[in-house]
Amino acid sequence: MSEHAEVKMLEFPQRGDERGHLVIVEGMKDIPFDIKRVFYIYGSDSEVIRGQHANKRTEFVLINISGQSKVRIKDGRGGEEVFLLDRPHTGIYLPRLIWKDMYDFSTDSILLCLASEHYDPEEYIRDYGAFTEYVREERDVE
Ligand code: TYD
Repeated sequence: MSEHAEVKMLEFPQRGDERGHLVIVEGMKDIPFDIKRVFYIYGSDSEVIRGQHANKRTEFVLINISGQSKVRIKDGRGGEEVFLLDRPHTGIYLPRLIWKDMYDFSTDSILLCLASEHYDPEEYIRDYGAFTEYVREERDVE
């Protein structure tokens, strides 16, 4: 786990040819963690807001392998940014302690999520006030 990792867009190697496209995502190589969990979200629409949580330990990479969606990220210290995920060979890296809202899903959206940890509901912070408090406490310890 990198301590002061930043949210960033990633571009993955493509090895497509006349037979079609092929995109490669290797843990500890194309993304900065080993992949312990994969899940994907589809069947959401433009009315839905997903996520709405931060994680104490888990880092993620989100890739819209089909269609598109947006992700709004907040660092709990006033920083906020919106990213459009609309290409199967790019993804967004989200370090731990980032609040994320995924929304504006196209009907053909398939959002692939790669995670650095197994699922543990205890490490999800689902209350925004609790998140900002957690971030503040962690900064005070540093
Ligand atoms: P949730 O965290 O609400 O999804 P999202 O981040 O897309 O908004 O998860 C929905 C349900 O799925 C919830 O009951 C928890 C469960 N879940 C797992 O059991 N394992 C997982 O890896 C994930 C991501 C969710």
